[in-house]
This record gives sequence, structure tokens and C-alpha cells, in this order.
Amino acid sequence: MTKVAVINETGALSFLTAPLEQAMPDVAFVHWPDPGWDTAEIALCWRPPAGALASMPNLKLIHSIGAGVDGIMADPQLPALPICRVVDGTLAAAMAEFILWGALYFHRQMDIVIRNARDAHWHRLEQTAARDRRVGLMGLGALGIEAVGPLRSVGYQVSGWTRSPREIEGVTVFSGEAALPAFLAQTDILVSLLPLTPQTRGILNRANLSQLPRGAALILCSRGEHLVMDDLVALLREGHLRGAILDVFETEPLPADHPLWHEPGVLVTPHMAGLAKPRAIAAQFAENVRRFTSGEPLLNRIENGRGY
Ligand SMILES: NC(=O)c1ccc[n+]([C@@H]2O[C@H](COP(=O)([O-])OP(=O)(O)OC[C@H]3O[C@@H](n4cnc5c(N)ncnc54)[C@H](OP(=O)(O)O)[C@@H]3O)[C@@H](O)[C@H]2O)c1
Repeated sequence: MTKVAVINETGALSFLTAPLEQAMPDVAFVHWPDPGWDTAEIALCWRPPAGALASMPNLKLIHSIGAGVDGIMADPQLPALPICRVVDGTLAAAMAEFILWGALYFHRQMDIVIRNARDAHWHRLEQTAARDRRVGLMGLGALGIEAVGPLRSVGYQVSGWTRSPREIEGVTVFSGEAALPAFLAQTDILVSLLPLTPQTRGILNRANLSQLPRGAALILCSRGEHLVMDDLVALLREGHLRGAILDVFETEPLPADHPLWHEPGVLVTPHMAGLAKPRAIAAQFAENVRRFTSGEPLLNRIENGRGY
């Protein structure tokens, strides 16, 4: 019988227990740190404790419960084994909705309109046509690419920034570090959908955010660690940036007494842009377990050495 260890240092993954057992009745699950977790052949993880995976002598496959694998990659003793992630169409569609809503929020100046309404202040703002608004997607992977169609359907000019060059119809693609300044300089609404890697940690810093045109806005959907929060706040207070929707944070949940909740121009959302349903996670994992046991190629495998 295949044995799977469900491992997460920062909280139990008990919401997955029933869906996993339903999807895989012939697999034995053991939750870290319950006895026997270390003899499993497969680890299903979010943020495993450093060294835990290296201490599993029978381990052959590491699987993330989400789209990101940064919590796994952070392990300094990570064994050189196949790593897979979840790529879920429903999550990608939800993310695309969130990005479209965020773009419309800034484009139609709802940040100002909502503030005015709260003050019973009737004031019609000048409008900009969608075709004159430029949305820049940092990352055109499984999630970024799904946002292109909805954004284009409204009429926005859409561009993207990727690591490797590519051609996407209707999207101006900038690739590589050298192209980042040019990408930022032509972006009114910046959306971060990058994976967290050593190259992207802290990428949304003063030096880079300053290259956005004055009045630009940020929608952060990737990871809190991409953003240098003090730099963002300074640029908002200086008026260089107009606002930010922040969905992800270095510490989640964002503490109730955190000043960001009340920072003018910042809208905090609770890591809700795109969530995979437990049943979808279990179904994808079950398919990869089936492939693993029958020696077939795994789905959504992380490329060696790329880190995402
Ligand atoms: N807020 C939420 O609810 C939520 C939900 C799910 C996921 N997420 C976050 O979203 C992230 C993206 O997910 P995904 O599935 O779209 O990832 P993905 O398929 O791996 O795509 C990543 C994209 O980022 C680009 N990229 C990576 N490193 C880069 C670099 N150094 N310079 C320029 N571009 C770089 C990649 O370029 P190439 O195309 O050249 O490879 C690719 O286009 C996840 O890692 C996770 O952190 C957030």
C-alpha cells in the first residue's frame, strides 16, 4: 500500500483529510508529526519543516498542495527528487476575475469614489477609456495567461514580463531582467503573478516601482515576499503610486493591529485571489499518485534547476 505523509509546519492540513481519503481509498495517509510519517514514499506539503523531507529514507516524490512551491524550495536540505504542483483551471479563472476586478477598481477610480461616498461627497471624476489604460502582468504562467483574455475583452492594453522570451497574441511581452525597466515604464496597473524565487524576492522595491509612471497602481497576487512594504508605503505617501491591492503578505493572516489595514491607498484582501478547492487538490494529487505508481510521466512537474 502506498504511504503518503501530509506535511506542513505552519498549521494542520486537516481540510484535505476527507477529500484525500475519498479520492484515494487505497492509500495510507499519515499527518506530520504523527508516528510513521517519515517512512512514507510520497510527501504532500505546503511548508515542510527544514530537513523533514531529507529525513525520509523512502521518499520518492514531493507534491505541493498549491500552485506555488516556494514553501518547499525554502528547505535548505531539500532532496533532489521530482516536485509537482497543482495547476487548477478553476483557481486560474478565479484569479483572472480578481485581476479584472482590481484593474477596473483602479481604472474606474473606485478607490476615490468609495472614499467620496463615505464622506457623502458628490464628485464626478474624469474618465479614461480602457484602450488608454495599460495593464502589465509580471508573470505569464498558468495564472497570468488566464488573465489576458478578460483584460483584453474590456479593451486594456496588456503587456507581460517573463523570464524566457515568448509570443502571445495581443500581448506585448518583455523578457528577462534587462527588459524590466521598459516593461515597468509602460505599465499603469501592475499585477504581480511571479513565483517566489531568489531572483524575484524583493523585486517590488523602490528602484523598480519608481520606474512605473506617476499615478500607477499595484495589484499583488503572488507572495508577500515580492514586495518591500516600506518602499511601497513611501511611494504611496509621496504620490508616485496611486494605490495598491495587496492579497498576500509575509505574515498571514495580516495581524489586526498592522498599520497596513489603515494605510491610505492600500486595500488589504485576505489571500483570496484564487483558491483551489480541497477536492480539486485531492483529484490532481490522486492522478499523480496513480502515475507515480504505474511509472507514467507526472503532471505539473517543476523543471529541474528553475525553482518554480
Ligand atoms: N493570491 C493567490 O490567491 C494565489 C493563488 C495561487 C498562486 N499564487 C501565486 O501565483 C504565482 C504564479 O503562479 P503560476 O501558476 O502562474 O506560476 P507559473 O506557471 O510557474 O508562472 C510563473 C511566471 O513567472 C515568470 N517568471 C518566473 N521567474 C521570473 C523571473 N526571474 N523574471 C521574469 N519572469 C519570471 C515565468 O516566466 P517563464 O514563462 O519564462 O517561465 C512565468 O511566466 C505562484 O507561484 C503563487 O506564488 C497566488
